[in-house]
Amino acid sequence: MTQITKCINGKTKIFGLLGNPVEHTQSPFIHQLFYEATEFNGTYNPFFVPVGQLEQAILGMRGLSLSGLNVTIPYKVDVMEYLDLVDPIAQAIGAVNTIVPVHGKLMGYNTDWIGLKMACDYYDIPIKGQECVIIGAGGAARGAVAMCLEGQATSVTIINRTREKAERIKNDLQKMDMDIPIYVGGLEDFHLVKPNSVAIQTTSVGMHPHEDASPIFNEEFFQKVDFIVDIIYNPKETVFMTKGREHQAKVLNGLSMLFFQALKAFEYWTDITLTASQIEWCLHQLETTVYNNTKN
Ligand code: ATR
Repeated sequence: MTQITKCINGKTKIFGLLGNPVEHTQSPFIHQLFYEATEFNGTYNPFFVPVGQLEQAILGMRGLSLSGLNVTIPYKVDVMEYLDLVDPIAQAIGAVNTIVPVHGKLMGYNTDWIGLKMACDYYDIPIKGQECVIIGAGGAARGAVAMCLEGQATSVTIINRTREKAERIKNDLQKMDMDIPIYVGGLEDFHLVKPNSVAIQTTSVGMHPHEDASPIFNEEFFQKVDFIVDIIYNPKETVFMTKGREHQAKVLNGLSMLFFQALKAFEYWTDITLTASQIEWCLHQLETTVYNNTKN
């Protein structure tokens, strides 16, 4: 007879993800890895929240005493008004992706920027004292700019197809008051990119099934970049990363950011810190699973 070694019981902590849609999320798998690595009694579930039902979803979280929720598209901004307190950096970014219940209150955090920082640290992509250039000005770009400011970059340059959106991020994130200059420009304003920069690509350009696309092809740009972080993880290497690599840049794709934003949420919810070998094991499982199932 097969023996059941793990199952949900009365002590199981319930976590999950609010979004619309939620079918393609990798988060349940990643959190399951944390539970296995640490022998934590938890379950992580995708929750589809219909349009107009976000407030009810948060009331449900309170009423059911859920132990923590992530929030994804399209609710990262709107969810803030239903929480009791929002972390100042999440406030400056303008988005919450992690809700943490603390003594009956719901606190909102943004672990996207922290996950990006943890991924850069883990893979030796320097931020402190570096000139950073962010490509794009959507939600992901906001987290990347906050990460560069918190990570004490020397300067942050945001270049985007629509320059006004880059201006808006600059205005919003200058509220973090980090005394670090933020420059903005259009996608072709390569003169703004400083030599030996760290480039963080935050648009969806180049993502499967449009693998041939890149927000930038120009050689002048790649000559000035020593490190490239692309938030895309499918394909495993984007054209943007390939071009950087051809110009001797060190490159990192977005899978580790996805991993570390989840890890930070797990840490907030449980106060458990994974050991280096547990992190290595979880990351290896994730990479093997994603890239054995994904054309790359
Ligand atoms: P997210 O919130 O997930 O970051 P988003 O808000 O859709 O996503 O932002 C996407 C970013 O990719 C934007 O900066 C967008 O540029 P615009 O501000 O000009 O819209 C950028 N982007 C999307 N498609 C693009 C393309 N084909 N070329 C260049 N930039 C593109």
